[in-house]
Amino acid sequence: MIGSPHVHHRVTDSTNERAKRLAADGTPHGTLVTADEQTAGRGRQGRQWVAPPGRALLMSVVLGVDDRTPLVPLATAVAICHAFPQADGIKWPNDVWVGGRKLAGILIEGRPRDGWAVLGIGLNVATEPGEFPEELRETATSLKASGSDVATPGEALDVLLPVLDAWLEAPSDAVLSEWRARDALRGRRISWAGGEGVAAGVGDDGSLLVETDDAGVQSLHAGEVHLGSPGG
Ligand code: BTN
Repeated sequence: MIGSPHVHHRVTDSTNERAKRLAADGTPHGTLVTADEQTAGRGRQGRQWVAPPGRALLMSVVLGVDDRTPLVPLATAVAICHAFPQADGIKWPNDVWVGGRKLAGILIEGRPRDGWAVLGIGLNVATEPGEFPEELRETATSLKASGSDVATPGEALDVLLPVLDAWLEAPSDAVLSEWRARDALRGRRISWAGGEGVAAGVGDDGSLLVETDDAGVQSLHAGEVHLGSPGG
């Protein structure tokens, strides 16, 4: 079961950074790092991850690498949706939404050749709408803002950990079918740095399939996509 040993920091730079240092020093699969506050929280695509102290679940888990690793981000998003049933959509690759607003983000980093990866999760638990940075106020939400009884990051961790443990072990076809049932982009027009088209689901390797106007179906393996046409 993931979650042991568990290192908790009142304040740290980034739980992913801490977990990576522990992994490089040989800490076992399942090691959990949490924090009340991060001073240099990282998001995908080089962005910052900002959360008011004590309001979000900030966690990183060290995982051994195996043939399931490519689906870990998808399995984690599915686990969050099962643990917190108001989470009703997943935006590829792994933003968890409630009613079109982002509840949680996932950042996987690692050194596959050294046999480890770090799974980082930021989940807004008790953040009040006015506490989100100005630019996120229209697009972010928290468990509290979406009517959940889960009131603290500690409670959220207790709910999530066993569910996450189970989904990280689940067969790929179960992960993919649960992910596909929550696909927030399918059938919608999207754009990315290299083009635009209509989202057509995920492939068995977790890539995003896009039906483009002129180049048939393309597979996106990484990066960021946006709803709508570029600039639209
Ligand atoms: C994203 O949506 O861009 C991913 C956000 C991931 C944030 C979490 S918070 C805990 C862990 N430590 C970090 O520095 N980042 C991840």
